[in-house]
Amino acid sequence: MNLTLKIWRQKNAKTKGKFESFKLNDISPEASFLEMLDILNQHLIDEGKEPVAFDHDCREGICGTCGLYINGRPHGPERGVTTCQLHMRKFKDGDTIVIEPWRAKAFPIVRDLVVDRSAFDLIMQAGGFVSVNTGNAPDANAAPIPKLDADRAFEAAACIGCGACVAACKNASAMLYVSAKVSHLALLPQGKIEAAERVQKMVAKMDELGFGNCTNTYACEFECPKNISVSNIARMNREFLSAKLFAENPSAIDMGD
Ligand code: FES
Repeated sequence: MNLTLKIWRQKNAKTKGKFESFKLNDISPEASFLEMLDILNQHLIDEGKEPVAFDHDCREGICGTCGLYINGRPHGPERGVTTCQLHMRKFKDGDTIVIEPWRAKAFPIVRDLVVDRSAFDLIMQAGGFVSVNTGNAPDANAAPIPKLDADRAFEAAACIGCGACVAACKNASAMLYVSAKVSHLALLPQGKIEAAERVQKMVAKMDELGFGNCTNTYACEFECPKNISVSNIARMNREFLSAKLFAENPSAIDMGD
């Protein structure tokens, strides 16, 4: 395949960026998208030019590092996959591919296609954990958990924190990410003890870091490589409202799930 790549180049968050065009020939349709970028970078290095900076780690769809905005969509044209799982057979010979970094105020550009997503880590540090002493690991069946709750918690826990939801949202909202993290803990007994405190702290941190609000466009769910459902946002809103009401009036009844 012969391709034209239009790639965002930017030295750092303080300098202005611009698109740069590259011609790349003889790319195998079986190559992954990141392998295609590796080949481009090898050419650039051979020519004594600066390679394009892009993030990646596991290349197996697990770590959430490889976020790229490809032809106007987070992680490119295929649904339910990360950039590292995208293959060049999804494009056509002669295509022009536009590659940009995630664009959100809370994700400043580090260089080229690399953004600083430590805002997500700060949200997790605000409450995305279980800190109560739960003792030794109990027998698997000692704490019965309804199958539906276990399934929903597992589905929410599939979030890899890649930031595609933020990049897809016109408001750069992190609600899908935060709600997945809130949900997978709040649905399980180990996470219920701190649930009220957790949701308030994580939402406050999300707002403080400059993420926008949710206006129900569902773009986040559509573009999420792990198919995280927006029903988690509804659950987080219920958790948040319940926690607020309880804080103001401790005799208020927990609204539950
Ligand atoms: S490199 Fe880890 S998910 Fe893509």
